[in-house]
Amino acid sequence: MTVILGLESSCDETAAALVTGDRRILSHKLAGQEAAHAPYGGVVPEIAARAHVEILGPLVEAALEEAGVALSDVDAIAATAGPGLIGGVMVGLVTGKALALASGKPLVAVNHLEGHALSPRLADPDLQFPYLLLLVSGGHCQLLLVEGVGRYRRLATTIDDAAGEAFDKTAKLLGLGYPGGPRVEEAAKQGDPLAVPLPRPLLGSPEPHFSFAGLKSAVLRARDAGVYRAEDIAAGFQKAVVDCLEDRTIRALRSAHGATALVVAGGVAANGAVRAMLETLAANAGLRFVAPPLWLCTDNAAMIGWAGAERFAAGLTDPLDTPARARWPLDPEAEKVRGAGVKA
Ligand code: KG4
Ligand code: ZN
Repeated sequence: MTVILGLESSCDETAAALVTGDRRILSHKLAGQEAAHAPYGGVVPEIAARAHVEILGPLVEAALEEAGVALSDVDAIAATAGPGLIGGVMVGLVTGKALALASGKPLVAVNHLEGHALSPRLADPDLQFPYLLLLVSGGHCQLLLVEGVGRYRRLATTIDDAAGEAFDKTAKLLGLGYPGGPRVEEAAKQGDPLAVPLPRPLLGSPEPHFSFAGLKSAVLRARDAGVYRAEDIAAGFQKAVVDCLEDRTIRALRSAHGATALVVAGGVAANGAVRAMLETLAANAGLRFVAPPLWLCTDNAAMIGWAGAERFAAGLTDPLDTPARARWPLDPEAEKVRGAGVKA
């Protein structure tokens, strides 16, 4: 059975994992950097990159030791090669190349989004291609038809902010702290989602994409009005995001021909209201709903190891001159969308 070493360092999580081709996670070591970034209310790329440099080596050592696997027993080294914060991506990719060079094993350069896209298949052996994936994280908000390994059709993306980014910015505006998603969800539980009128950008629009920048500005205006409770703004914001995700997903389902399941991945999948909405949507569409365990939804190295295993099994390995990419669309054929802050 193949054993793959996976490395992740594209944002603010440093991680190393050993994963087998038959879906066993032999070890997973992850170090978050929340404390380092908390004073700034968001991820500082330079601080993140320096932290990866310090942490990744020891994590690889610990992951190999816990799995009882020597580097010489690994079949391939899979490292995130983008998209993400370029300093961090370079740390992980160069570490992967060095390990590949030292061990004589092949390198698999993994697109971080492919890691998220295939992670549900690590958790669920019955999940068959094609499936409709809602990828909602801090950096991405996309609907993808996952047709096979290396075959992704992007049906929608955000024209400005990602959903998780909107959660983080809302938390910051409301003084709820960092990381924002869980704080907003917690505050929303004490609030009335109907108390504050907030927009639902692009709801019902014939174009397939997402937009959250206008919602964030409306949150700012509501806060500055000085008449609403933070809990009510949080609840209204969360409901608006859920409504937008629902509307866009329903639209995408119409063109997701042959989809066997509705799948969610990315950090925002941790949100209870988002999950509940998707579960109902899937049931109404007669589809299975698949949500990987939360730790596999947020950034981790097991998903990179697993994407590496799927690519390795398909004969896909990469040369040592593979570039690190800040941007790397999963679907190169997808049409460009308007908007400046387009992620991947
Ligand atoms: O996938 P992830 O760990 O990292 C990226 O690739 O971005 O996602 C992190 C994002 C953050 O924006 C965070 O605020 C959001 O996921 N998030 C949540 C929740 N937990 C994490 N958003 C809403 N509700 C949550 N409970
Ligand atoms: Zn991610």
